[in-house]
Amino acid sequence: MAKPFILVNLKTYQEASGQRAHAIAGAAQQVADESGVEIGIAPSYMNIHPLSMHYTLPIYSQHVDAAPPGANTGSVTVEAIREAGASGSLVNHSERRLTLADIEAVVSRLKGAGLVSVVCTNNVATSAAAAALGPDFVAIEPPELIGGNVSVSSANPGIITGTVEAVRKVNPAVRILTGAGIHSGECVKTAIDLGTDGVLLASGVVKAKAPIAVLRDLVSRL
Ligand code: G3P
Repeated sequence: MAKPFILVNLKTYQEASGQRAHAIAGAAQQVADESGVEIGIAPSYMNIHPLSMHYTLPIYSQHVDAAPPGANTGSVTVEAIREAGASGSLVNHSERRLTLADIEAVVSRLKGAGLVSVVCTNNVATSAAAAALGPDFVAIEPPELIGGNVSVSSANPGIITGTVEAVRKVNPAVRILTGAGIHSGECVKTAIDLGTDGVLLASGVVKAKAPIAVLRDLVSRL
């Protein structure tokens, strides 16, 4: 199995904007270096370039448009995030839903640009559909648990095992993350034991008094 991956989505939290994004990225870099666990950060568009200049950890976009370079006003292209230093992008997050056609177009554009695609899904059926598009990752996140203190690992292990089974059946090359309410090493360990390759989380790190302590706990059981 590939190394576990922990991806921290900074969303649009005030606690993670501007210089505060640097503090969290610096903590994530330190914990990744100490532990050998791969940790990525998904900041706002505004911070992709500054963070990629300062840190070696993978930086992800939270969304990217399917529009190609050219006469498209207001879109953020795959090429633009790559030039800013992103390694990949979230696609179809619960807070940024897309149509199936858009998901397919974005996954294929990311692939063409050599960037990693992480397609977020909300149930087993959408996980299977996403896997059929051949992204690098499917990230299963039950929307009702997002932003809360109860983790998907403890509240809904069935959605994780169901996704693992469905995705493996459709395309065994696709790696699987899970998220929603993840906040401790125990949650991460359970997610891995249920067959995932890692976790996608936000508030547990971003809203913590000491993000570095939470990050150290997240990797502590791996
Ligand atoms: O993208 C991560 C996410 O939606 C989960 O958020 O705050 O429950 O860790 P959170």
